[in-house]
Amino acid sequence: MVMSNKKATLSFDDKTIELPMHAGTVGPDVIDIRKLYAEGGVFTYDPGFTSTAACESTITYIDGDKGELLHRGYPIDQLAEKSHYLEVCYLLLYGELPSAAQLEDFETRVTRHTMLHEQMMNFFRGFRRDAHPMAVMVGVVGAMSAFYHDSTDINDAWQREVASIRLIAKMPTIAAWAYKYSVGQPFVYPRNDLDYASNFLRMCFAVPCEEYVVNPILSRAMDRIFTLHADHEQNASTSTVRLASSSGANPFACIAAGIACLWGPAHGGANQACLEMLKEIGTVDRIPEFIARAKDKDDPFRLMGFGHRVYKNFDPRATVMKQSADEVLDLLGVEDNPLLQVAKELERIALQDSYFAEKKLFPNVDFYSGIILEAMGFPTSMFTPIFAVSRTVGWVSQWKEMIVDPVQKIGRPRQLYSGATARDYVEVENR
Ligand code: SDX
Repeated sequence: MVMSNKKATLSFDDKTIELPMHAGTVGPDVIDIRKLYAEGGVFTYDPGFTSTAACESTITYIDGDKGELLHRGYPIDQLAEKSHYLEVCYLLLYGELPSAAQLEDFETRVTRHTMLHEQMMNFFRGFRRDAHPMAVMVGVVGAMSAFYHDSTDINDAWQREVASIRLIAKMPTIAAWAYKYSVGQPFVYPRNDLDYASNFLRMCFAVPCEEYVVNPILSRAMDRIFTLHADHEQNASTSTVRLASSSGANPFACIAAGIACLWGPAHGGANQACLEMLKEIGTVDRIPEFIARAKDKDDPFRLMGFGHRVYKNFDPRATVMKQSADEVLDLLGVEDNPLLQVAKELERIALQDSYFAEKKLFPNVDFYSGIILEAMGFPTSMFTPIFAVSRTVGWVSQWKEMIVDPVQKIGRPRQLYSGATARDYVEVENR
C-alpha cells in the first residue's frame, strides 16, 4: 500500500466524515471505510462486491478496460508464450521468476508429492460412477485434511509450504482419478519422469494394456491452458478461499470450498456450459436465434463464455486461447471442427451487435477452452476440474498472502435488514 494524504469526505444527515484513502502501485485508489460504522452509524451496500476491495494483494492485477492481466507484473500473453505452468506457479507463490536452480528444485518438490495416500482411493469408490467429477474433487480435497495432519497448522510457515506443494502436486492426480473412476478404468499412478501437463494427460488417458505416448502438441496445449487459468485477482472462488481461511480453517478445507464455488456455471462451470451451448446451437444458421435469446430480458439464457465482471474490453486469456484452439485443432487435423466454426461465427456476430457492445460483453477465458479440451479427448464434465487443477496455485498463493497479512481478520460482512421488526411469539391456538 502506497500511503496517500488524500481523504474522502462523506456528508449525510448532520454528519461529515473524513475517510483516509490509499493508493496501490497501479489501479484505482481505495477509500478506507473501516471506521465508517463507528463514526457514522451506517454501512456501505455493495451486493456482489462490484466496487469493494476486500484485501490488498501483490499477486495479480487486471485492467479490465485495457484487457491487461499481470501475474507479479508479467503480462499473461508473455507467460503463455515463453513460460510454463510450474514456472508460473513459482512466480505466483514466491513473487519472482525462479533461477534455473530454483526452478529445478521446485519442480522436483512438486513431482515428489504427486502421489495420493493409498487409502484415499476408497473415497473415489464411495461415489456413484456417474457422479460429477467436481463433486468428487470437493470431497477428496476436503478429505485431505484427514490424511495430511502434518500440514494443517496454518500458523506454521513450514506446514503452510508443505500444504501448498501437496495441493498443487496432488490436484492433477485427484482430477485424473475422478475421470478414470467415471469411465470405469483403473487409476493410473503419476510418473516422476514426466512434466506436470504430460503426467496429467497420461493419468487421464493411459490404460494398462499399452504404453501411453504423450503427444507433445497436447501436452503443450494442456500446459498453456493450466497457465491461462492459474490466478485472477479476487474472483468468486478465490474470495471463497480467503473467507474460509479467515476463520482459521485448514488449507485443504479452504481449497475444497474454492472448488465448490468454482463449480457454478457463472464462474468456472462456464467452460462446460459454453461447450454444451455450442452443441445446442449446432450450426451457424441457428446463431441468430440464440443471440436473440441472450438479448431477451424475459429469457434467462445467457451466452456462456461471454461477459466478465472486470474485463470490459477483451479477456487477454481468450485471445491466447483462440490462437491455441486454431493451432491445436489444425495440428490434430480437426481444423474444420464444426463447434469451432460455430464459436468463431458466434463471436463475430455478437461483437457486431450493439447489445453486446453497449454491455461490453466479449468472449472470456471459457469461450474457447472447451473446444480445445474436447479435441484433446476430455468429456465436458472434466472441463471445470481442469480449471480447478490450474487455479489451485492461485487459491494457494492468495491464501498464503492472506495468512501473513497483519490487517486481515475473520471476514464477517454486515447487511441491510428489511425483515420483520421485533414482535412477540403467538401460541398456535391464537394464530
Ligand atoms: C470466470 O471473476 C473472475 O475473474 C472469473 C474468471 C476467473 O478467471 O476466475 O474470469 C472466470 O468465471 C469467467 C466468466 C465465466 N462465466 C460465463 O461465461 C457465464 C456467462 N457470463 C455471465 O453470466 C456474466 O457475464 C458474468 C457472471 C461473467 C458477469 O456478470 P456481472 O458482472 O454480474 O454482470 P451482470 O450479470 O450484471 O450483467 C450485466 C448486463 C446484464 O444486463 P442488464 O441487467 O444490465 O440489462 O449484461 C448482461 C446481463 O443480462 N449479460 C449478458 C451476459 N453477461 C452479462 N447477456 C447475455 N449473455 C451474457 N453472457
